Amino acid sequence: MPSSTTSEKGSEPGLPKATFCFRCIGCGAVADSAAQDFRCAQCGNLLEITDSSWNSRNPAALKSLWRERRTSNAALDLSGVWRFRELLPAPAAAQQVVTLREGNTPLYELPQSSRATGVVRLYAKHQGMNPTGSFKDAGMTVAATFARQAGFRWVACASTGNTSASMAAYAARAGMRSLVLVPDGKISWSKLSQALDYGALTCQLRTDFDGCLRLLQELVRQAPVYQLNSINPFRLEGQKTLALELLEQLDWQPPDHIVVPGGNLGNSSAIGKALLEMLDLGLIPRLPKLSVIQAEGANALVRTLREAGGKHLVSVQAETRATAIRIGNPASWQKAVKVLQATGGACDEVSEVEIAQAKAEIGAEGIGCEPASAVTLAGLKKLLRGGFVKPDETVVLVLTGNLLKDPDFTMKFHRGELFHGSAHQQENASLNSFRHPPVVLDANLDAVVRTLEQAERSVPTHANV
Ligand code: F0G
Repeated sequence: MPSSTTSEKGSEPGLPKATFCFRCIGCGAVADSAAQDFRCAQCGNLLEITDSSWNSRNPAALKSLWRERRTSNAALDLSGVWRFRELLPAPAAAQQVVTLREGNTPLYELPQSSRATGVVRLYAKHQGMNPTGSFKDAGMTVAATFARQAGFRWVACASTGNTSASMAAYAARAGMRSLVLVPDGKISWSKLSQALDYGALTCQLRTDFDGCLRLLQELVRQAPVYQLNSINPFRLEGQKTLALELLEQLDWQPPDHIVVPGGNLGNSSAIGKALLEMLDLGLIPRLPKLSVIQAEGANALVRTLREAGGKHLVSVQAETRATAIRIGNPASWQKAVKVLQATGGACDEVSEVEIAQAKAEIGAEGIGCEPASAVTLAGLKKLLRGGFVKPDETVVLVLTGNLLKDPDFTMKFHRGELFHGSAHQQENASLNSFRHPPVVLDANLDAVVRTLEQAERSVPTHANV
């Protein structure tokens, strides 16, 4: 059986010295190693990784070192995650690092949504442009590296699709085998097909995501498999780099708001951790407000804050077409509550129709995203209406997944089939101007010309013309 994950190792040129440890987010107990379930041996709460050396670095020197690395062709520097390795747990050797050149994702302006919302400085940090099409790759490169270093043959995760796609890819690159537990019939084919192609042993379980995660946590206590869900704190360390890279792209001028989708709540926790560390270190002068948006049907964090003041989890039976965030019992809720409170961010929920419209609007910008990512734009509109965000503030939406992740949703939306027979049928009509259904024609020039002329006469109201 491989050894448990530990920080006891040396280092080599090119990697900072490894001095990190695990700290419990509940009782604060600190340890050099973590058990397979990544829970505190004293109180059972989640762990986070901390490293005293992170605080002792010179911020100006770090900024120029990270910028310099962008011209390097070394494998570690080509990764948009390991380029920031001074603020990551260090593996024992550079050869251990499992990388697919993740990170380095674009920060786009959103001119049409900017005009529609009145927010002049509105950006999308598109994590869907990662190697497997989602933000998961940033965390997976770090966690897969430590799995390989610890000598594991098998890695495993429960997933709504993106974690499994990412894990399967990184496991394949590392020469490890991967076990995927997904809810049967509740994840997109596109994501499932990735796991198959990357060679995962894929189990479709007759339960939901929360059921899959429960089972995985039992499994890792019995079998020598390394858990790669975001309970694994190495994942969150890698996902911190989203915020580092974003701030670098903004020349270290913090935006006023960062808006992120919330599911299992690992990503919001990671971004928040990065922001707090950046402030401590003097990399940024002030904190952006980090806001989390959920689907109305999967709103555990919204209810936890609203009904329990963030003191205990209010779990829900999750239901949403944004299947990536169809999660009712988020594992990292306490971490998320902590960073929301520390940054002064908001937590809100949006409807299925609002999600569908926002997704179409992001698509019409020429970049697109998957439904779960679109909650950010839908949420921004709500936060503007409530006065939490002001139009003259700078806002960054985190788009977590690529448009190609869920083609079924997109096709149904444009064909007008998404809300058929559902409670939303009436509101659905309001979405007609966003639809671009395919037109089936005879292969005849007249028919195409007539269709073109007709389209020219009916320019959609939101189009950028
Ligand atoms: N957006 C996308 C596209 C996701 O795949 C997920 C989570 C989230 C947002 C929510 O992020 O869980 O860190 O709050 N997907 C996980 C998975 C659960 O298994 O792929 P979170």
